[in-house]
Amino acid sequence: MSLTVYRKAHFNAAHRLFRKDWDDAKNLQVFGKCSNPNYHGHNYELEVGISGEVDPETGFLIDLKILSDIIKEEVEDAFDHKNLNIEVPEFKNLNPTVENIAVVIWNKIRKRIDSAYGISVKLYETPRNFVLYKGN
Ligand code: NI
Repeated sequence: MSLTVYRKAHFNAAHRLFRKDWDDAKNLQVFGKCSNPNYHGHNYELEVGISGEVDPETGFLIDLKILSDIIKEEVEDAFDHKNLNIEVPEFKNLNPTVENIAVVIWNKIRKRIDSAYGISVKLYETPRNFVLYKGN
């Protein structure tokens, strides 16, 4: 029996969307208000899905306590109440768009979960704007 279990999480973080090789005018033109040089925050909502086979002995696909600990260590402790551009090494040279943040989260969780399982990351930057990344 194959299915997907989900764990939700949340973090607040500040960012600025910009390219160092563009001037402020070009950044404003492309990224709009999100290129504000003084940064701004979002309330990010995260849904991590783990897909695979249910263990007939336990009835679990994965122990959700283990998944919740991984999300806390890899995402909440690393990103919550941080300035993504300045304080999170993955975004030193990577624009912290919701797309790129989702891919970074997926890569961090991938390293912690057995390769027998599939991983999906759904990340909401606002209640209406979100991305889904499944690693391909
Ligand atoms: Ni923004």
